[in-house]
Amino acid sequence: MERIIELRKKAKENGNPILRDRSFELLLSKVKEEKPKSILEIGVNVGLSGIAMLLTEPNASLSGIEIDEDIIAIAKENYRLFGVEKRAKIFQGDASSIIPILTGEYDFIFLDGPKGHYFEYLPHLLSILKVGGTLFADNVLFRGYVGDKVKTPHRFNTTKHSMENFLNAITTDSNLQTEIIDIEDGISITKKIK
Ligand SMILES: C[S@@+](CC[C@H](N)C(=O)[O-])C[C@H]1O[C@@H](n2cnc3c(N)ncnc32)[C@H](O)[C@@H]1O
Repeated sequence: MERIIELRKKAKENGNPILRDRSFELLLSKVKEEKPKSILEIGVNVGLSGIAMLLTEPNASLSGIEIDEDIIAIAKENYRLFGVEKRAKIFQGDASSIIPILTGEYDFIFLDGPKGHYFEYLPHLLSILKVGGTLFADNVLFRGYVGDKVKTPHRFNTTKHSMENFLNAITTDSNLQTEIIDIEDGISITKKIK
């Protein structure tokens, strides 16, 4: 894991939008607790959270979705570097097009793609999440705009409202149990209970 921490540091220095430190720790502690066999990651970037999840849970396999071809090349190289390439695959393209055609069933979904689309993705993500499975989403408090800790600039209103719809859906559905964690950019952890 030390090498992952080093690469995360480098990725941050290079301006890659990777998961923040406490959120990363929380993600891994959830994976350790849940022991998922099949993981879906929306927004792979250079693959470091995916690798860390696979190293945490040696019986897991990972499917990722990523739009940026150049980033995918780096993620694949990183998978090889850590010897997890046989357990990890990436679908290249826009998550809006790929999510609706996913047919697998997942124990754990890590949602970390474009923030304005979580609400749109939610129905299909819930349909491919196994009962007992977990949906872990980053950025749900969106810089403090959601919850009005910080005044929302006009240009972010649409994304903010979309995220509020997402949070409302995951906290009011009786098939789900959701916890919102106010660290960094905000994390939601949702268990599909039925
Ligand atoms: C926050 S980063 C993901 C970080 C990664 N999950 C991690 O923990 O290190 C978000 C990623 O989503 C990708 N992305 C943005 N829009 C997308 C879309 N419409 N479909 C798929 N991927 C997208 C970006 O290229 C970026 O790599």
